[in-house]
Amino acid sequence: MSTASATALLDGIRAFLTPAQLRTDPDSRLLYGRDWTHQHTPAPLAVALPTTVAQVQRLVQYANDQRLALVPSGGRTGLSGAAVAAQGELVVSFERMNRILDFDPIDRSVTCEPGVITETLQHYAREQGLFYPIDFAARGSSHIGGNIATNAGGIKVIRYGLTRDWVSGLKVVTGKGELLDLNKGLIKNASGYDLRHLFIGSEGTLGLIVEATLRLTSPPGPSSVMVLGVPELDGVMAIFDAFRNRLTLTAFEFFSAKALRHVLNKGLQRPFETATPYYVLVEIEHTSAATVDTALAVFEQCSEQGWLADGVISQSETQAQELWALRENITESIAQYQPYKNDIAVRISRVPAFLRAIDALLAREYPDFEVIWFGHIGDGNLHISVLKPAALDQAGFLARCRQVNEQLFSTIRQYGGSISAEHGVGLIKQPYLHYSRDEAEIAYLRAIKAVFDPNGILNPGKIFA
Ligand code: MLT
Ligand code: ZN
Repeated sequence: MSTASATALLDGIRAFLTPAQLRTDPDSRLLYGRDWTHQHTPAPLAVALPTTVAQVQRLVQYANDQRLALVPSGGRTGLSGAAVAAQGELVVSFERMNRILDFDPIDRSVTCEPGVITETLQHYAREQGLFYPIDFAARGSSHIGGNIATNAGGIKVIRYGLTRDWVSGLKVVTGKGELLDLNKGLIKNASGYDLRHLFIGSEGTLGLIVEATLRLTSPPGPSSVMVLGVPELDGVMAIFDAFRNRLTLTAFEFFSAKALRHVLNKGLQRPFETATPYYVLVEIEHTSAATVDTALAVFEQCSEQGWLADGVISQSETQAQELWALRENITESIAQYQPYKNDIAVRISRVPAFLRAIDALLAREYPDFEVIWFGHIGDGNLHISVLKPAALDQAGFLARCRQVNEQLFSTIRQYGGSISAEHGVGLIKQPYLHYSRDEAEIAYLRAIKAVFDPNGILNPGKIFA
């Protein structure tokens, strides 16, 4: 984008950032230039580490003057390449803007900078006797700013919704450098368009989040975790329906026997001896003294129907965590195979038919690849990770996966689903956006981008080309 030399650009930035706030060494550029995807070679100009809103505004102003692309960066745990800087961009890392600024017990809200780690916020809420419910496996390194920029979902969506549902205020620096103070922590605010929601999930393409106010809630009571062995794909949603009709579920997760094999290889224990092709994990909140008895009755009912073949219920917090590890450790256990990830969703009513359709499609299209299924099936979200065979080079592997994508995404369109349920579009799913959004809608998205970022300096190439 910029025509100025790298040296000149960096000299200009040094006028308003201290030497410690601008990293140009190769290790930093490599580290901050990528997220958890490894499909692009990082090549940022440098990494800026602002500590104040004024510095962020100054960076955006400078980027506009120089037509320098900025890539906002949080914990870099993203899975769609939205935080990748591979074209000489300046990475703007928020890791030094990591303070909790305010807690209000009456509002039950916390205001923080974007670089606060998700788990730090969860702990902070607990210390105040409250609860921040958005949760997922990357909680220990992902940042609140990144969670908001991707509208993070995770494992408790069926009970608590998405990040969007917990953001009551947002301060953003737009692509024009203006500071907007959106919704100001209000619960009710019917005074026109709610711009806050445009920035949530915008993947850093409209503005840079510099402060957020998040709602907190009462901590949940105790819960039990069950892992159930499911012989047929059709049983998965039948079990979901049976459990949620009689119990308060906080999670309903799914994984295949192939996924289980990988976590067992990393040293975890089988939940029970019976082997089944599919498993579900159900987390049940104890809403009465009868909760466990009801859960066991539903288990019996599902067993009589032939929907499940075996199961286990946690007897302690430690055992609950061990059962959760079977699901949460899947990503890490397959990372060495450089998986190609699809993160897709359909309405829950369509999940059974959709699963049947893509089961057939994937068996036909990937006969020689190992395909790992897991996901948050209670909210209609399935993760499909295709493992790269050792003998195939990365380019050949990606080409095959992209070919199959066209068919997979056509099926998703047929079912009215989404090409990205929670990982975002980023660079990796950008060519497929039209499978989920029609042309007229994409034109409006582009028009919105032009309003907030007329020079296209914010995260170019992400969401749209
Ligand atoms: C998960 O549900 O574990 C995450 O979305 C990560 C992944 O899909 O690999
Ligand atoms: Zn997920």
